[in-house]
Amino acid sequence: MEYRGYDSSGIAVTAPDDPLGAGIKLVKRAGKLKNLEDRITEIGADQFTGGTAIGHTRWATHGRPTDENAHPHRSFDEKVAIVHNGIIENFAALRKEVEGHGIEFASETDSEVAAHLLALAYNEGDTAGDFRASALKVLNRLEGAFTLLFMHAEHPGQIIAARRSTPLIIGVGEDEMFLGSDVAAFIEHTRNAVELGQDNVVVITREGYEVLNFDGSTSEGKPFTIDWDLAAAEKGGFDSFMMKEIHEQPAAVRDTLAGHFQDGKIILDEQHLSEQDLKYVNQVFVVACGSAYHSGLLAKYAIEHWVRIPVQIEVASEFRYRDPVLDERTLVLAISQSGETADTLEAVRHAKSQGAKVLAVCNTNGSQIPRESDAVLYTHAGPEIGVASTKAFLAQVAANYIVGLALAQAHGTKYPDEIAEIYASLEEIPAKIEQLLEVNTQVKEIADYLGTVKTMLFLGRGVGFPVALEGALKLKELAYIHAEGFAAGELKHGPIALIEDDLPVVIVVPSPKGVKQLHSKIVSNIQEIRARGAKTIVIAEEGDTSVEPYANWLIRIPESASIMQPLLATVPLQFLSAAIARNCGNDDIDKPRNLAKSVTVE
Ligand code: M6R
Repeated sequence: MEYRGYDSSGIAVTAPDDPLGAGIKLVKRAGKLKNLEDRITEIGADQFTGGTAIGHTRWATHGRPTDENAHPHRSFDEKVAIVHNGIIENFAALRKEVEGHGIEFASETDSEVAAHLLALAYNEGDTAGDFRASALKVLNRLEGAFTLLFMHAEHPGQIIAARRSTPLIIGVGEDEMFLGSDVAAFIEHTRNAVELGQDNVVVITREGYEVLNFDGSTSEGKPFTIDWDLAAAEKGGFDSFMMKEIHEQPAAVRDTLAGHFQDGKIILDEQHLSEQDLKYVNQVFVVACGSAYHSGLLAKYAIEHWVRIPVQIEVASEFRYRDPVLDERTLVLAISQSGETADTLEAVRHAKSQGAKVLAVCNTNGSQIPRESDAVLYTHAGPEIGVASTKAFLAQVAANYIVGLALAQAHGTKYPDEIAEIYASLEEIPAKIEQLLEVNTQVKEIADYLGTVKTMLFLGRGVGFPVALEGALKLKELAYIHAEGFAAGELKHGPIALIEDDLPVVIVVPSPKGVKQLHSKIVSNIQEIRARGAKTIVIAEEGDTSVEPYANWLIRIPESASIMQPLLATVPLQFLSAAIARNCGNDDIDKPRNLAKSVTVE
């Protein structure tokens, strides 16, 4: 679970027989999980045996990543331990109230208040002595998004948990039960899981689970079987998950495409939007964050080109705050690997409240975004553990193109044979990515030559522009280097001032088979930056000789239809960012600093 947050971690175990303590043993440490493991070894792992345990890996929101701010948090009487994911928005008022009881806080977090409130509710008043009633009382006072796990020293066989907007899944084992933010937490122990609804509370014991609503009434979860392979959560001989996931890209794209073109027709399974619904659509909005947003830019190019309806794209965190013009003829395409990203989820909710139809492109079965959307197209990339998105990004691009083709089919803007031809060129991509994986050796040589660069620019035109943005994002998050992606034509309007001797600039050259002027214009752009001293790393199709005189390094990618090129041109940039990151001293490319895989806060 470390990929969900790794600035600190901790565990609490109920130890009812402990003659000294209050029944809960707790240990926590700032930094990566290794620090916690070392601390536990130091104390003695046998000190932390017990029947019930909670653990947490943190991505800081309130308070720096210190030992004190790490979870679990304990109540003033040391009888309650809690872990929390999300933000308790009314924590300041609650903290004041708790401090009014003369209670001192041990941390700067918003989370700790829940532990004290629970202890207060358990110790006095109408819920005294009743763990469940006390937990419900506290939960009903909290505002914001949260997953909370509560344990109480006097109820050592029980954990009470709740979710509002952030994820929580139950794992059902034999004589053991699990709770996790995602199934990776317990996939080693059981394949039987239960999905919980919004505002659900769950009480687990070793024997079973009970699902409630926040008012205490009975509710139920939705059982499902986890089909992810356990090997998917292991490195399989690679030195990092990211490297493994880059190599899994041919399969990710192939599996995402599988079954979507049958008997000459595009099929969007798992959709609840009919061909008639798609035909009715007269504008598309794409909402997504980070890499998913870059994949969405490519959806715009494809849909506008194939369907001739306007597509607007917006970073999800901005979407609902600027009052976009949506109606029942608007299709909102919400793209998210995790299906949990709070910004995208809120954009989906806003779109639905305005009457738009929402189609999710998502990699995680049963997650919140598909659940709240009208339809979903799953990418089949398998679990992505590396925090920097690689295979999920390529799978999203493939899925977006399927959506584009489905719209073109419904609108009749492409003949069936044209759709078949485009789909066939999409199906050729996995084999071409396979072939391209060898480029890593050349890329490493380039990275070694560059050493520890301070800044880098990425340029592209047409569908190469989103690739440039994605290349820059990868380098920023992995190597902590300032990097920017630009539309190559925009350079002369300001950013060209950044070019100086030896500045490395990556240029994604569009296929010469595409728009002719686009290709020749980017060749001119390369000359302009070379003339100003830049070192050019040119990514161009095999056989494109026009760029040879202007490239300090030339990275060849297989030929493809021009709209498909991003599915290839992205791969060397993933390798490049990983290689530069290592040269800059970041060996743990799976867990870049300050980041987390699923961003469940806005
Ligand atoms: O799970 P999501 O696809 O919604 O995540 C969106 C972004 O947070 C994600 O793509 C992020 O930008 C990655 N770290 C990029 O490598």
